[in-house]
Amino acid sequence: MKEEIAVSAGTMIHDFAITDRDVVFWEFPVVFDLAAAAAGAVNPFTWDASCGSLVGVMPLGGPAAEMRWVEIDNGYVFHGTNAYRDDDRIVLDVSRIPSVFNDNDINDSPSLLNRWTIGTGGDELTWTTEQVSELSIDFPEIDHRVTGRAHSVAWYTETHDTADGNLEFPGLAALDVATGELDRWTPGPARQPGEALFVPDPPDSAEGEGWLLTFIWDQATDRSSFVILDATDVGAVPVAEIDLPRRVPFGFHGTWPADS
Ligand SMILES: [Fe+2]
Repeated sequence: MKEEIAVSAGTMIHDFAITDRDVVFWEFPVVFDLAAAAAGAVNPFTWDASCGSLVGVMPLGGPAAEMRWVEIDNGYVFHGTNAYRDDDRIVLDVSRIPSVFNDNDINDSPSLLNRWTIGTGGDELTWTTEQVSELSIDFPEIDHRVTGRAHSVAWYTETHDTADGNLEFPGLAALDVATGELDRWTPGPARQPGEALFVPDPPDSAEGEGWLLTFIWDQATDRSSFVILDATDVGAVPVAEIDLPRRVPFGFHGTWPADS
């Protein structure tokens, strides 16, 4: 199926989330600048706070005519961790940064985990937010067997802005959602992980039991390695680290949907 959703400007939408019955989109004031693109700008996106910020909810599968939006605080969210239903509310954890592509900064950290609660029971959507982590974390991963339902563990990449405006990833962290505790792993100076991918093992394991896979970029050697961590004990020494024949682009990330 395909549904077309109208937006007011050419904004950069990077991610979305689903529950068992909703699709949730977030739109922040980062706009495509055609003139900058035509002039050959490396990054043709610019921050325009006047555009405002919205979160929208559509029934899973549409139609777009039933899409509802509510204004939210300005900022930027690249990635949502997961969303789920709690009666007539949607709970959604996101990594929020104050702004991005603003005054030539690549990324204004910190990227702080916020829990959004979106009320869908009334005529208008409602939205509240609560910060749930002091650590700057982004690039979320969960056990995808619980996508759209409440998750008990999530894994993140720590993010940190450098003085020259670049972004570095000092380590990974596992969040125990019930306690808020973070189990952190730092691969060492000038060695930076990327977003982690969780693989359950065995396939019918309890949530979060399995392996966490990531790439490390070693700035000293400009080479990459493939690392396997115990997803239940992220702070421990990796189970394996395998040198790769060529560097993996730093920051490369995505996900792996099975075909069934
Ligand atoms: Fe991304």
